[in-house]
Amino acid sequence: MAPSKGVIITVPVLVLSVAATAIFLFFLFPFLSSCSRPATITTDDSGSFDRSDIQISATEEDIAWVKYQIQQNKLEMLPNVLRKGINPRTRAQQLQDLNQFKGISHYEGEEANNHTALPCLGELLVEEHHSNYGEPWAGGRDVFEFLAESIKLRPDARVLEIGCGTLRVGLHFIRYLIPEHYHCLERDELSLMAAFRYELPSQGLLHKRPLIVRGEDMDFNRFGSGIRYDLIYASAVFLHMPDKLVWVGLERLVTRLKPFEGRIFVSHNIKFCSRLGGEECTKRLTSLGLEYMGKHTHDSFLFNHYEIWFEFRRLKA
Ligand SMILES: *[C@@H]1O[C@H](CO)[C@@H](O)[C@H](O)[C@H]1NC(C)=O
Repeated sequence: MAPSKGVIITVPVLVLSVAATAIFLFFLFPFLSSCSRPATITTDDSGSFDRSDIQISATEEDIAWVKYQIQQNKLEMLPNVLRKGINPRTRAQQLQDLNQFKGISHYEGEEANNHTALPCLGELLVEEHHSNYGEPWAGGRDVFEFLAESIKLRPDARVLEIGCGTLRVGLHFIRYLIPEHYHCLERDELSLMAAFRYELPSQGLLHKRPLIVRGEDMDFNRFGSGIRYDLIYASAVFLHMPDKLVWVGLERLVTRLKPFEGRIFVSHNIKFCSRLGGEECTKRLTSLGLEYMGKHTHDSFLFNHYEIWFEFRRLKA
């Protein structure tokens, strides 16, 4: 044997060991990833979804992972000032730039009108509507996660939102559910413009065909009569409505809710009920065929905030 300075690896040996490693990893990987986070939807013998093993909200591992990424990259929150390649603008400034300069590359004259498939208004492009609510836009995700985890939401569930506005919450449902399974009643025209002309197209969700109906308070006639929803929710809506109208709405909604398993969730408070007095409130709900299931508190993921939710179910088939 010649004294070798290192280990000599011949080409066939190298190829073999690479192949062996690849085979080993191939079998190990699905195992590793299914331990930390089962993210696939499995179907049972009856072909229905089983989502008992799926978590919609972030896991502890997810949070540890992102914190590690920030630490590894030594990231600090710095003041957002003009620097190389970065020119911070307010929404108002951005809108002015957009109207004045139209971006760097753009069509002029006649050509300006036939190259853009779905021209969107500048006000929507700069996302002014993301500041329409008292709380951050990201809070929409909190609402989705709370409701989805509460009812063990499956992609084939049917969901009705009362007052979806600009889809701050609705986008998350639309993305998760199969096409046509998200419905919403909203009366604010400008919000619906933002939803249809900006949010759905920019999020790539047009193919989900959500049924979003512009209509006055609590008129559900255009949703068809055959659908039984798994979830009906109103996020910060009932508190802005006269009690009488809320009761009219609930009466109409009961028949559209799946008996027993279906849930109605109402956020913030249920003064429309408690104002009647405890006993009268329960009596009124019972007469509609509704049962109060309890009060929940859900903490926000990204900011110091919590939301209160009231849960109801339908008692009679
Ligand atoms: C847009 O319109 C102009 C002027 O009529 C025409 O010359 C051009 O070919 C059109 N472009 C497209 C993409 O249709």
